[in-house]
Amino acid sequence: MEKKNKESFGSKFGIIAAAAGSAIGLGNIYRFPCEAGANGGGAFFIVYLAIVLFMGLPLMVTEFVIGRRSGKNPVGAFKSLAPGHKGWARLGYLGVICSFLILAFYCTVAGWTIDAVWKAITNYYHGKDLATVQFGFDSLKEETWQPIICEAVFVFLTAFIIIKGVTKGIEKYSKILMPILLGILIILGIKALTLPGAAEGVKFFLKPDFSKINGTVVVNALGQAFFSLSIGMGILITYGSYIAKNDNLTSTAFSVCICDTIIAILAGIVIFPAAFSFGITPEAGDSLAFVTLPMLFNQMAGGYFFCLFFFVLLTIAALTSSISLLEAPVLYFTEELGISRKKATTYSAIGVFVLCIIASLSLHSDTCLKIGSFSFFNLLDYITATFLMTIGGLLTVIFLGWKMKKEDFYDEFTNDNTVNMRLRKAMYFIIKYISPLAITVILITQFIK
Ligand code: PFF
Repeated sequence: MEKKNKESFGSKFGIIAAAAGSAIGLGNIYRFPCEAGANGGGAFFIVYLAIVLFMGLPLMVTEFVIGRRSGKNPVGAFKSLAPGHKGWARLGYLGVICSFLILAFYCTVAGWTIDAVWKAITNYYHGKDLATVQFGFDSLKEETWQPIICEAVFVFLTAFIIIKGVTKGIEKYSKILMPILLGILIILGIKALTLPGAAEGVKFFLKPDFSKINGTVVVNALGQAFFSLSIGMGILITYGSYIAKNDNLTSTAFSVCICDTIIAILAGIVIFPAAFSFGITPEAGDSLAFVTLPMLFNQMAGGYFFCLFFFVLLTIAALTSSISLLEAPVLYFTEELGISRKKATTYSAIGVFVLCIIASLSLHSDTCLKIGSFSFFNLLDYITATFLMTIGGLLTVIFLGWKMKKEDFYDEFTNDNTVNMRLRKAMYFIIKYISPLAITVILITQFIK
């Protein structure tokens, strides 16, 4: 097997920050509340937590192990760890394709975030009532040029950071900024909880009504967990390839899962109490983040600065995720096809931007870019998170459990018998038997429906 010879992350904190940077993003603050709101609140939340712990964490460890063992991007990793089995390399391609599709709708939502930054700068939200803020957001989706320009800015920023290189680009930004985002969310949480009627929102989000748990809730929680943790499409295989030999992969994965989940929980604690207090329904989808939050800032002393700061940080959180998404095709083009990094990034960014324009136009009410009741935008979201990522995750654990040598897993998992010795058998068992079985059952139940 060819061994790696590339940059490693500078420090343990650097890897956690970068992987958490990939994980924490619009998935936590925009998508998580949408999914929790549409799937019964507390019922969704409890299933989500269980999935993160019992399926997300082992899959993250799996990706790190495959990445560090091979020292390569997903396509190269599957090729080199299972030589002669061409089929597995396709799993790497699935990740590359999935990255493009996710980026298309991700950059659309990031475009709304940039629009919110602009609105915050110009003090647009100040003194506006709910109906006006809601109308402003709905009209943005109907516009043609405004969202496209915002998306262009976002795609450009992503490509720019990628061209600057891995450690310098990713590590530098995420290390300082994510803790600040956490701090602001805590302040927002405190404010939201003191609003009149907030208790109803807390109850909705945190009190599970077990009768609401069904196949759809479980499959959506699975998709959300994979999406939020950035697993199931090989992104973290790429990150694993940069992790130094003596880092403990399990504790790194655990820290990333914890950081990501804390941000999602905080987002729920901010958004649901505030939404209930303002009379926004939990099924309001996109508006939960883009209407509730500006309304909350309106109620706060120093709201102008909080609003501005928050949306700038959210844009940066989205950037650290989109960087990791775009890094997947770029690494594939450079490592497998020998194209220069600059060219690979430029071509990939143009491809993403084109898809992104289609996704954003598909949200117009008079659009023809719909399949049934699904807009192209919704379709991308649904197909990637609910199916491609979960199928990718399933195949990845099968690969590790059934194709890779057990000794290779043990060596990598225990850092050549120095850490996690007691945990290795249990983890291997979960990855080999429990995870594949659980994901298959969830997916089959959903397909049958
Ligand atoms: N995890 C990111 C978020 O929650 O915003 C989105 C994402 C990044 C999904 C990277 C998938 C991925 F591979």
